[in-house]
Amino acid sequence: MLKLDISGCEPFVTVSEFDEYVSAARKALQTLDSKTGRGSEFTGWNELPEETTEADLHLYDLIAADWAQMGVDLVVVTGIGGSYLGAHAMIEAMSHPFRALLGEKNGPDVVFAGHNLSEEYYADLMDLVRKRDVAVIVISKSGTTTEPAVAFRMLRRHLEQRYGSGEAARRIVAVTDPVKGALRDMAAAKGYRTFPIPPDIGGRFSVLTAVGLLPMAVAGLDIRSMMEGARHIQRICDEPERDNPAIRYAALRNLLRDKGFDIEMLVAFNPRLREFAEWWKQLFGESEGKEGKGIFPASAVFTTDLHSLGQYIQDGARIIFETVLQVANSRREAFVEEDADDADGLNYLSGTAVDHCNEMARIGTRLAHIDAGVPNITVSIEQIDEYNLGQLIYFFEKACALSAYVSGVNPFDQPGVEAYKNNMFALLGKPGYDERAEELRERI
Ligand code: PA5
Repeated sequence: MLKLDISGCEPFVTVSEFDEYVSAARKALQTLDSKTGRGSEFTGWNELPEETTEADLHLYDLIAADWAQMGVDLVVVTGIGGSYLGAHAMIEAMSHPFRALLGEKNGPDVVFAGHNLSEEYYADLMDLVRKRDVAVIVISKSGTTTEPAVAFRMLRRHLEQRYGSGEAARRIVAVTDPVKGALRDMAAAKGYRTFPIPPDIGGRFSVLTAVGLLPMAVAGLDIRSMMEGARHIQRICDEPERDNPAIRYAALRNLLRDKGFDIEMLVAFNPRLREFAEWWKQLFGESEGKEGKGIFPASAVFTTDLHSLGQYIQDGARIIFETVLQVANSRREAFVEEDADDADGLNYLSGTAVDHCNEMARIGTRLAHIDAGVPNITVSIEQIDEYNLGQLIYFFEKACALSAYVSGVNPFDQPGVEAYKNNMFALLGKPGYDERAEELRERI
């Protein structure tokens, strides 16, 4: 069960201050649940775990089975932002990090595209695509985002030329708005199989829809267990009680921000969670960073980054607080063995599990950082598996919405993302952007 430990904030906040922010977070929960807050038309994710049925999940299995039967050994998931980060995070967390080098296969490899505009990346990707038996999941809620559209045009043309348009259509699944958008129209015209992204769920809150679950199912993850974990924590996070962990976390991070802790560092002690932090950064960054407000979400993997960012955290400006993901149990074993020579002086650790060393590093770091003025929040899960990851996803989504409401912003829009898009469109010569293009050209 997911647990929240906030004792590492005791030196930095008083009980009465905390109580005040908890009251605000409890009100935020009411606002969220009654769908009366800003952006309430995008709160469908709030009930999603309870509402997702076995029939929904079965549809993802059918695609996975169909492609397996066809011999597909590479699936390119094409999307950006909320349309790829969740699936990427979950698949990374659940995959053997050396799978490719081991050459072990128990399902297709899943790679990602449409999340950058690097020419080299696409040339490199096509080297792989040409050699493998390929299928594509293209994900875009709007159906018009440039990055995935560019990647998908390349992949689509390749599939059509290689397999013919009929078979290409069987190898492409589109996940998009149920009725509108260029991708929806193209899917209808070309006969792709499709999954709808519910209109009341925005990109960064969509990982537990087809956006995340379809790529995960194709990669062989246990999506039922993930939804069960999400359902379990939903019940806990729905309670308007003071000990609701989403309420506590939302309250505390707002309180810390108001005390000048403007950066939150999500720390994992397991590199499998590196991409999870990327999902988390988008969730909080895009939901809260607006109207001149917000906590800057950063991340680190320890102990790796203790040898880089660790210096700053220990000794630099006192503007950081840490949220540490603690994983109670390692699912694999590795020990420090006895060495007759003890030339490296490590025999004091003989027989010790590496995970024990990691745990002592975590505890030692926590205390060192608290002593140095860095508040510590710890979110614990039992192990890295789908059930626990489902809990983490829903917990952070809920806490993010509450936290944004406490700080007074709309968690569900992203007006700031438009600025770069408009400039890029103008500079690329997109029809309708002539005036902006002229203004920009004078400046470059
Ligand atoms: O969270 C969000 O809404 C964004 O990050 C979107 O997911 C991202 O911009 C991609 O949009 P779309 O799915 O419309 O291509």
